[in-house]
Amino acid sequence: MLALHSPLDMHLHLREQDMLQLVAPFTAQAFAGAVVMPNLVQPVDSLDRVAAYRRAIIESCSAHPFTPYMTLFFRAFDREELVAAREKIIGIKLYPAGITTQSEAGVRDFEAIMPTVALLEELDIPLLVHGESNGFVMDREAEFLQVYKELARNFPRLRLVMEHITTAAALDLLDQYPNMAATVTLHHLMLTLDDVAGGGLLQPHLFCKPIAKTPRDRDALCRAVLRGHPQLMFGSDSAPHPRHAKECCGCAAGVFSAPVALPMLTELFEDADCLESLPAFVSSNATRFYGITPLDKTVRLQRKTWRVPENYGSVRPFLAGSQLRWSLVDDAAR
Ligand code: NCD
Ligand code: ZN
Repeated sequence: MLALHSPLDMHLHLREQDMLQLVAPFTAQAFAGAVVMPNLVQPVDSLDRVAAYRRAIIESCSAHPFTPYMTLFFRAFDREELVAAREKIIGIKLYPAGITTQSEAGVRDFEAIMPTVALLEELDIPLLVHGESNGFVMDREAEFLQVYKELARNFPRLRLVMEHITTAAALDLLDQYPNMAATVTLHHLMLTLDDVAGGGLLQPHLFCKPIAKTPRDRDALCRAVLRGHPQLMFGSDSAPHPRHAKECCGCAAGVFSAPVALPMLTELFEDADCLESLPAFVSSNATRFYGITPLDKTVRLQRKTWRVPENYGSVRPFLAGSQLRWSLVDDAAR
């Protein structure tokens, strides 16, 4: 048996309506809280929308104690709006325009955003960034590091999160800028581009943004996470799309990992003989960086093999059909 104190998922997509109802309980069962991304069909870019979305999430998770940490979709907010938002959100999420699922309303001109970023620094509101350029797909994260550097240098007190990093180069930046942290997904600890597109058959359910990179990148991420790097936080980036939107011409980007996240992470850390680093990655690094006190919730895993279903409703999960060694102990069964 393994007990984790208040595990957190610091980057999560929950969607709305039926999809929200379907996916939210998986995260609410396994985690004490999660940072919820604002890229809905209509972006969550006002406090009214934050409140309504938060209510819908809490309703869909009512079977478990769970805190949704809300984010606002970045736009040119004024001071008054940000002062009002400060207590209601954990941060502001910035997407470059058009770079991923539902990001058309994102940023086109990075010079123009500086006054808003200055306000975030002044008001101590974290800035969460999807850091990809629109260059060659394998170089997008590396090219964007320049923007991170400028932000971290120009705003040394800004809490800046590189979301879902996939490269060794992004790790180097953390050493230079103590005001930065990064989330890492489960799938980027396991996959390279070969798994997505290297075989005889394309794997649409492994297609996501940022795309999985090279073995060298993946191994560097694994090493840093497993040794308990203090600036790395778990963020699943679990991003469900119905099968018909993945298995078609024009596959949507996103891996639905919520049901397997904690059991598979435990297996990875155990295989590397690093279980002692797991609490830092899934909880304390995030609570320290964000200055949050999560719900007091103990999540237990037991060594009991299970087979990941092929489908949950309309969605195919990450690792569908695989055997996992650790399973969550159902709260009701304790
Ligand atoms: C995410 C989604 O589907 O909302 N997709 C993805 O591939 N990760 C958006 C994102 O985080 O890029
Ligand atoms: Zn995401």
